[in-house]
Amino acid sequence: MQNDQASRTALLIAASLVLLHRDPKYSDLVSKTAADLCAQILDAHSARTRLFLKIVRQDWFRPIAKLTERITIRGILLHYVLRKKCIADLVRSAVINGAKQVVIIGAGFDPLSFELHQEFQGVHFWEIDHPATQHYKVRTFSKIDAERLHFVGMDLSTTAFDSEALIKNSFDSTERAVWIAEGLLMYLTLERVSSLMRTLKSLSVPGSRFVFTFMEKQRDGRIRFDSQSKLVDWWLCRRGEPFLWGTTRSELVDLVRPWQVVRFSDHDDLRELTSGLAGEPLAKGEVICLAEA
Ligand SMILES: C[S@@+](CC[C@H](N)C(=O)[O-])C[C@H]1O[C@@H](n2cnc3c(N)ncnc32)[C@H](O)[C@@H]1O
Repeated sequence: MQNDQASRTALLIAASLVLLHRDPKYSDLVSKTAADLCAQILDAHSARTRLFLKIVRQDWFRPIAKLTERITIRGILLHYVLRKKCIADLVRSAVINGAKQVVIIGAGFDPLSFELHQEFQGVHFWEIDHPATQHYKVRTFSKIDAERLHFVGMDLSTTAFDSEALIKNSFDSTERAVWIAEGLLMYLTLERVSSLMRTLKSLSVPGSRFVFTFMEKQRDGRIRFDSQSKLVDWWLCRRGEPFLWGTTRSELVDLVRPWQVVRFSDHDDLRELTSGLAGEPLAKGEVICLAEA
């Protein structure tokens, strides 16, 4: 992460949601509320993202986006929206089963907390993110319900997870929680990931859940999407967001302890979430893990 700029990948994901919501083939996968919230972020962030938003909304841009995907990471846009759908389903299920607190770490410009905040009136939400990214979200949505939606800035690469800051912002470690870390852990070192797992467990009563994504290490040890081109490696490094950590499913079972792994969902599972995607390119390499305290 560059310390003075919002995460470029978070902005890219926001633009992807706007793009796919306008595409008749995928529009059902992204709600209008989610697309509108992402559009508000892009509109408010800077003159460049405002221009990009205008372009993304044009029908003629769709084939250009497809072509760009082909030379960067084939199937990444569909991966983003299906990953979000899978995580939202897991979080809704945790809340229906009694979690009263939802904490999204590395939330970026994800609209999930805003959507669930409307849906579940008795639930409290926290968004934790690098201050450089979070600043833009708080600035854009200045009229948020501060009673139930809290923003806590943390740079997780330089300091450990600040439990005190969360508790000061009304988090109750005696209540059941669901934690989310989507598209975040690959930017942290193994030591930081491992310490984060332990800290979150210490704040979680039995029955709490942790939904996170990780990059599955390739056979040659590289940490990247299967279809990722060298251009993307270069871009991530240039933007200060190189992938630092990846693992295998079996290594992860040990690493997450004292959390218990309940389930992994990979590209094949994501494809099953909705009909009509047979034959559609879908990026492979990032896996969703559901763990329980
Ligand atoms: C790829 S984006 C994912 C955003 C969001 N979770 C989503 O999936 O739409 C990565 C997020 O991790 C956050 N992040 C990266 N490094 C971080 C750090 N050192 N401390 C806190 N947050 C960090 C970025 O600010 C950004 O919001």
